[in-house]
Amino acid sequence: MLFFSFILLLCTLPLLALCAEDYYKLLGVERDASDRELRKSYRKLSKQYHPDKNPDNETAQERFVAIAEAYEALIEPETRKIYDQYGHDGLTKHKQGRGPGHAHDPFDLFSRFFGGSGHFGHHSGERRGPNMEVRLAVPLREFYNGGETTFTIEKDHVCEACEGSGSEDGEVDVCDVCGGRGMRIQKHMLAPGIFQQVQGTCDACGGKGKTVRHKCNVCGGARVAKEPESFTVHVERGMPKGARVSFENEADENPDWIAGDLIVQLVEKEPVLGPDGAEDEHIARTDGTFFRRKGKDLFWREVLSLREAWMGDWARNITHLDGHVVRLSRPRGAVIQPGSVEMVEGQGMPIWQSDAEGDPLAFGNLLVEYVVVLPDMMDEAMEGDFWATWEKWRAKVGVDLFKDSGRPVIVEASAHDEL
Ligand SMILES: *[C@@H]1O[C@H](CO)[C@@H](O)[C@H](O)[C@H]1NC(C)=O
Ligand SMILES: *[C@@H]1O[C@H](CO)[C@@H](O)[C@H](O)[C@H]1NC(C)=O
Ligand SMILES: [Zn+2]
Ligand SMILES: [Zn+2]
Repeated sequence: MLFFSFILLLCTLPLLALCAEDYYKLLGVERDASDRELRKSYRKLSKQYHPDKNPDNETAQERFVAIAEAYEALIEPETRKIYDQYGHDGLTKHKQGRGPGHAHDPFDLFSRFFGGSGHFGHHSGERRGPNMEVRLAVPLREFYNGGETTFTIEKDHVCEACEGSGSEDGEVDVCDVCGGRGMRIQKHMLAPGIFQQVQGTCDACGGKGKTVRHKCNVCGGARVAKEPESFTVHVERGMPKGARVSFENEADENPDWIAGDLIVQLVEKEPVLGPDGAEDEHIARTDGTFFRRKGKDLFWREVLSLREAWMGDWARNITHLDGHVVRLSRPRGAVIQPGSVEMVEGQGMPIWQSDAEGDPLAFGNLLVEYVVVLPDMMDEAMEGDFWATWEKWRAKVGVDLFKDSGRPVIVEASAHDEL
């Protein structure tokens, strides 16, 4: 149905401008492109402009038809030669010379490449292949900044050499064992003289009802062949760990079905030190690489010396995931308890899609846990000084360790005070 309304549309609209576009340009290839390059380009563009993926977009639909036309003209050595010499006019004359115009069905071409009927769509009630899941490890930096990650997978493509027939010469025969039904009745002997008839899958043709005498050299008759294909995922700022990004109809192809979806699950990559972490070495070495993420918050452990924790008067510059600096500091006299946690507001992860309604992007918090390190050894004079200081102040009330220990109060216990 869709196709007919489509042809009508083609006849009625002034399509001259588009039809006259150079075939090579339409396919985005050089004039000396190989057949392989033509196929590759057709594969990519026809999927991109397929009407089922661009509903209500005439520009894309016209392009889909034009791409099919360009591909069919260039893949055929005879018509390609004519086109190269005489252009569109030459081809038009060539077609006229062959009697009444036989328009090629662009969906038919599409189905030879991708299997199924040439349509995606849930309306056709066609068989769909299984979805395919892959996990992609993305560094935390990319979850923070957003970005594009390209990855390559091996997946089944409908064999180009035999166009999914599995046959070297294009001949496909009806299976003579089952007569094309794919099933056959077999007799099993249960006991001497007692037989049972069982209907089972025909093993001569594997239930397909068809056999191929000369198997395709490329796919060995399997009709599909594994090939690498690259995809680019757009990681949005603040996407959660485990987020799934779907590529419609990009799972394994098969002539018998519409390909299912390729589903990419984003997981977090272990941080690595050094240039491996990013193209930009400067950013790869940032503290942020080692932040730990929990939902919208980030966690960081900062180490302080005993002096800093106790006396204050220190500052730290922490380089965040996009290179900006978060400054932590305390003035003289500000004590920090070991293990205490400081919350730095707004320095956590971007909150995914919080800017969807035109609001500025919102952020979670950065939680800094302080670890205090005591010196291993002291020089003798220093030890003496400290000792004297402690002795001097011991009698004064400092911390009440009993109170702080949380133990039940024992009446007789002598108060034990310490700085
Ligand atoms: C229609 O498709 C064309 C080609 O892909 C694209 O440039 C254009 O933005 C689309 N228009 C709409 C309204 O989606
Ligand atoms: C931290 O950054 C500030 C400016 O933001 C700079 O003045 C200071 O020298 C830096 N300190 C360190 C230890 O890098
Ligand atoms: Zn059979
Ligand atoms: Zn093949």
